[in-house]
Amino acid sequence: MSRWQDLIRDVADFPRPGILFKDITPVLADADGFEEAVEAMAEPWRGMALDAVIGVESRGFILGAALARALGTGFVPVRKPGKLPGATLTAEYALEYGSDRLQIRTDALPPGARVIVVDDVLATGGTLRAAVALAQRQGAHVLGAAVLVELGFLQARDRWDAALPLRAAATF
Ligand code: PRP
Ligand code: MG
Repeated sequence: MSRWQDLIRDVADFPRPGILFKDITPVLADADGFEEAVEAMAEPWRGMALDAVIGVESRGFILGAALARALGTGFVPVRKPGKLPGATLTAEYALEYGSDRLQIRTDALPPGARVIVVDDVLATGGTLRAAVALAQRQGAHVLGAAVLVELGFLQARDRWDAALPLRAAATF
């Protein structure tokens, strides 16, 4: 296991009893750890022509912006409802109880822009699937998705488009 992976902290019973939370903030707080983690996320996409990294509010902003700088691309936010000015597209996705929504600006990128979609953690995959769908509806060409941590036991890949590369820097 890489050193940055050792910095991920397990927090029992957060945010609810019975959930083992993977806290990535110690990775972000460590200069070498943050650099190694971003490099691990960037590695699969190096050498590809990319226009932008799309990051999902809020933790996906931290890694998405860093990844955009590492790959030399722009950054586009997918945000929680009501945060983006101007015309937006909305995607609704299911949570364990209820649903949530994400938005992207209709003019975020020119048609056919080559992008990857980034978040910190892949759990059920609902958030990342919604963000990919928004990017595609916006007209972007989504080359794949990248996360720092995949919770493999939640089997998000069972509901993932097999044609779309999904790269995790670490899987638990
Ligand atoms: C967390 C995490 C991912 C998402 C993963 O975000 O940052 O975005 O859940 O879960 P999923 O794969 O089951 O959809 P959350 O919405 O809790 O909020 P935050 O990023 O604003 O902290
Ligand atoms: Mg999130």
